[in-house]
Amino acid sequence: MMTPPDPGLTLLHFGDLHLWRIGLDADPRFKRLLGLANLLLRRGRLFPLSIARLVLRRIEHDPADYLCFSGDLTTTSLKAEFEDARRLLLPLLDKWQARFLAIPGNHDRYTVRAAGRRYYETLFAGEHARFPFEVDLDAVWTLIGIDCSVPRRFTSRGRFTREARDALAPRLAEHRRRGRRLIVMGHYPLLYPARVPVQLDHALPERMALFELLAEHRVDAYLHGHKHQRWRLKHEGVTLLNCGSAGMDHPRHRPGYLRIQLTHDGIGAVQSVSLRHRADIVREARREARAHEAAHDHAPPDTGELPAGEWVTRLLEEDGDAVH
Ligand SMILES: [Fe+2]
Ligand SMILES: [Fe+2]
Repeated sequence: MMTPPDPGLTLLHFGDLHLWRIGLDADPRFKRLLGLANLLLRRGRLFPLSIARLVLRRIEHDPADYLCFSGDLTTTSLKAEFEDARRLLLPLLDKWQARFLAIPGNHDRYTVRAAGRRYYETLFAGEHARFPFEVDLDAVWTLIGIDCSVPRRFTSRGRFTREARDALAPRLAEHRRRGRRLIVMGHYPLLYPARVPVQLDHALPERMALFELLAEHRVDAYLHGHKHQRWRLKHEGVTLLNCGSAGMDHPRHRPGYLRIQLTHDGIGAVQSVSLRHRADIVREARREARAHEAAHDHAPPDTGELPAGEWVTRLLEEDGDAVH
């Protein structure tokens, strides 16, 4: 008898959108003032709304079974930022509905007061607002969303407590007993490529404890973001995928997302889809304008739109050694 073809699954994985507004939400904490200063000086320019819109529109038209978001919708957890996020993500929520799986990042829990107001939970997460959540994606795969994001007074560190570990371990064991293949989605990196320095004030202090737990239960993949660079690592059987930022307009770390293929045998091809460097886009627009002028004897109308062909899709290769 012929073996039926493995239909597999496609996941789109994005994160670190960092929508921003200027404001304090009547919460003048030191960290909020710091965040505001950072926004005015740097972040505002690094995360233009036009870029987030382009990436979201690209995702909307990319066919996939599930859409996964690994945190940092906002920048300083303002109510207005969450409302913008809800509005911008509406087409994606409409399209994927319960197949849109999301967790918060540290910027969605920016201060104690903002976290207490539960904007993320009320405006965005819907039925997956409790963590960890577990979803059987198909007959083979289960995804578990965890939440390690807590408000910190000065740093961007997360927290993975002993209680969280004790709650997660039996769930992983139970799924493995059922013979399920597992994906865990969190916000923080657990391991880093050797080329990327680990900043202790930006990392998850208990990352090795979490990694060892995943390796012990033979989790196939861990999806995350937080550090705004796309990478693929493999260590002790666990594939670690960083989706990079969907909103950051950085010359080297381009805004985009990951397209992940799952087969019945494990993680398949992973593609990075990103917006080309703005300088390339501008060069191309000029070239097109010159060609138009030569052909029509007048400059093309300025539509304010980026030219087509602005996306770079490449296979994400495994990075070398992993460090923690
Ligand atoms: Fe981030
Ligand atoms: Fe983050």
